[in-house]
Amino acid sequence: MFIGPYQLSNQLVLAPMAGVTDRPFRQLCKQLGAGMAVSEMVSSNSLLWGSEKTKRRANHEGEADPISVQIMGTDPVMMAEAARHNADNGAQIIDINMGCPAKKVCNVQAGSALMQNEPLVKDILEAVVNAVDIPVTLKTRTGWDTENRNALNIARIAEHAGIQALAIHGRTRTCMYKGDAEYDTIANVKSRISIPVIANGDISTPEKAKFVLDYTGADAVMIGRAAQGKPWIFREIEHYLQTGQIMSSPDTTEIRDILLGHLANLYEFYGEYTGVRMARKHISWYSKGQKHGAAFRQAVNKAETIEKQLEMTHTFFNTMIKREEIAA
Ligand SMILES: Cc1cc2nc3c(=O)[nH]c(=O)nc-3n(C[C@H](O)[C@H](O)[C@H](O)COP(=O)(O)O)c2cc1C
Repeated sequence: MFIGPYQLSNQLVLAPMAGVTDRPFRQLCKQLGAGMAVSEMVSSNSLLWGSEKTKRRANHEGEADPISVQIMGTDPVMMAEAARHNADNGAQIIDINMGCPAKKVCNVQAGSALMQNEPLVKDILEAVVNAVDIPVTLKTRTGWDTENRNALNIARIAEHAGIQALAIHGRTRTCMYKGDAEYDTIANVKSRISIPVIANGDISTPEKAKFVLDYTGADAVMIGRAAQGKPWIFREIEHYLQTGQIMSSPDTTEIRDILLGHLANLYEFYGEYTGVRMARKHISWYSKGQKHGAAFRQAVNKAETIEKQLEMTHTFFNTMIKREEIAA
């Protein structure tokens, strides 16, 4: 699949997730098989660009191509400016967020709330596409609510505006994350437009990824929550798509090593104070479903230093590895 001049290495995309898809996590997912990883969203409000948080979000040092940065907002002029700013700071693809239902986002009419206002969508998309000479992509939901599934109208507006790929989360805004994602709307949109479509929502296994690709005819799938604590899901899906075989899951030693590498990158990227805090949720996700995981999570969440967090993580995984060796 191509996005403008960029050919993705496969059909697998890491979804943008605020507070999750920072540079260390994007790099890790790319190493483990994601063909593209979209950054956390960056506000179009230029007053925020100088903040530590936004500067960190715009840091792509060492990240594998293509570098896709998501922007969010409601004012076409500000969005165009945000696109230019990010393009000047290393973005190779600009992604526009009309898929996020968060209250904080929707109250200012951004994110998926924008889908209610098709003329404004058109103005924003045209302004952003005209502002930069790099590809612009769009992420949407299927509509505002189940009575107003206007993803096809939005898709047509996007295609006319020069958007180069469209990711669709198979839920409406009012669905938030409830119920199951539906793929009929995505299939319908895919059959009626000619730009690449990326299907998103509830893809959590290699079999589901293949099902969604086949059912919708989409060019790629986008995976969010299923990659949390399981960044190797991309190589597992890739293997299944290529061979029809299920790849065995990583053993505990490999999981430990992937997590320790991830932690080292988080500490380096954020420094000790924020790094330790950012690491907590990842450690929790990696230890989910493991024996004695709940007690470990409770304890490790209290660690305040890199040294303590690492020591507890080592001990938890090494104890599990020893237990497995004895049982084998
Ligand atoms: C913690 C979290 C943060 C998210 N942040 C964003 C965001 O910044 N921009 C966006 O377009 N979507 C965001 N989303 C939505 C995801 O990109 C994705 O569309 C959604 O999780 C459905 O995919 P999944 O079922 O594979 O998780 C977020 C989702 C989660 C769980």
